Amino acid sequence: MAKTSTRFECQECGAIYPKWSGRCEACNAWNSLVEQTAPGSPASAALAGRPGRRIDFVTLDSELPAAERWPTGLAEFDRATGGGLVRGSALLVGGDPGIGKSTLLLQVIAQLAKDVSGRPALPCLYISGEEAIEQIQLRAQRLAVGKASLHLACATDLRDIVTSVDRQPAPAAVVIDSIQTLSADYLDSAPGTVSQVRSCAAELIRLAKSRGFSLILVGHVTKEGTLAGPRVLEHMVDAVLYLEGERSHQFRILRSVKNRFGATDEIGVFEMTDRGFVEVLNPSALFLAERRSDISGSAVFAGIEGTRPVLMEVQALLNPAAPGSARRAVIGWDQGRLAMLLAVLEARCGLALGHFDVYLNMAGGLKVSEPAADLAVAAALISCFADVPIAENILFFGEIGLSGEIRSVQQMTARLKEAAKLGFQEACTPPFHKKAPLGKSGASTESLTVTPLAHLRELLAKIGGEKLQTTLLRSRNTAKTGADGAQLTKMPSSQR
Ligand code: TYD
Ligand code: MG
Repeated sequence: MAKTSTRFECQECGAIYPKWSGRCEACNAWNSLVEQTAPGSPASAALAGRPGRRIDFVTLDSELPAAERWPTGLAEFDRATGGGLVRGSALLVGGDPGIGKSTLLLQVIAQLAKDVSGRPALPCLYISGEEAIEQIQLRAQRLAVGKASLHLACATDLRDIVTSVDRQPAPAAVVIDSIQTLSADYLDSAPGTVSQVRSCAAELIRLAKSRGFSLILVGHVTKEGTLAGPRVLEHMVDAVLYLEGERSHQFRILRSVKNRFGATDEIGVFEMTDRGFVEVLNPSALFLAERRSDISGSAVFAGIEGTRPVLMEVQALLNPAAPGSARRAVIGWDQGRLAMLLAVLEARCGLALGHFDVYLNMAGGLKVSEPAADLAVAAALISCFADVPIAENILFFGEIGLSGEIRSVQQMTARLKEAAKLGFQEACTPPFHKKAPLGKSGASTESLTVTPLAHLRELLAKIGGEKLQTTLLRSRNTAKTGADGAQLTKMPSSQR
């Protein structure tokens, strides 16, 4: 009989340890190790008993049938998934509770279960472990998808679900909402633990691959922003989409972070309305809709999300800080990058913001990770410091290096085209590379003046002008005379 021993598994990341400890060394979670029984016999001994089947290898260029895809007809969802759901694949949709995962997936699956031009209605199942059938029906009526021939069920037992899904005719797509509610009766642990989530997902994924249906798993995200417990799930599925956004905003962004069948970092933008998700075909116009150009501290950034350019507003606010306790609060951008930018502004341009609390916000609930946003953030900070509003038809993009130089970024032409399309008249950009002269960037950008900036000092001069020089001089004199730095208030003139 195989010898059994115990081992300890982290409930956050799935790391295995021979001994218990208070903290997981892999993910630094406290108190997350749980004792489990492990099969004792080493793999090599177990494998020695019986030879396996020989695997057939193929070459890179051998012809294989392309994976069958079902576009859902929701263009933004199809964009994020790289063209629709793939037969025999598993997709994980993560997001905060209440962000709209169930709503979106009900719309997606109802769309698949409907006849659309060029594709007959597909048999689809929606299994919920969280809501009652009546609730889902009510929601479907509200979303005006009540007529779709979709099969609904409430279930949490893996055995029941496997038996019901493994039927003829085989379903085309199955939604499990959510994977954390399922439980396999052969495991002792509670639903939502790593072992339950992993076993249930593995079993459903195996079934999806063997029966050729598209499996969509819903997963909750913890406060820290990772999928609760089942980080392991991300490795098991073919694609991972996150539904992001501030609950108080109406925008939702469906971001692809892993996709074995398409590009990652692609986004789909939706607006949450009282009739569910509505696709946003022109996200830039939406993100800039509430911008006011008469207030200092706001700059427009031309970013790239996935393959498409998106314009958004960067807002900065400076407020005198209590001595020795300046705050830096950032929403939608990287805190470390802001610290770097503040250091560069001080060291290379003499703009000392150490006396101020700095607040930075990417308006509209977008999360930006591109360094290309540096120039727009710097512009917003300078505009707020000098209390000079930036004209509404200027936008910015460019990475800032540690010596204050402006560095080039990817896809400059696409950014400029989007800017021209939305009626912007000037773009402050990095100095262009010789191989991509601006004059040739296409007729659609002709209405746009491009101002290449080589150094951060040029940006200061452009935005702040004389007013900034006066403020800087005053700030230096104040520092020299030993007065309290907090005297230097940076309130907009309207509030002074
Ligand atoms: P839900 O899909 O239940 O979120 P999740 O499954 O991610 O937990 O969405 C919940 C929120 O969406 C809820 O606060 C109400 C809102 N909502 C709308 O604004 N419009 C709608 O048409 C629907 C169905 C929901
Ligand atoms: Mg839900």
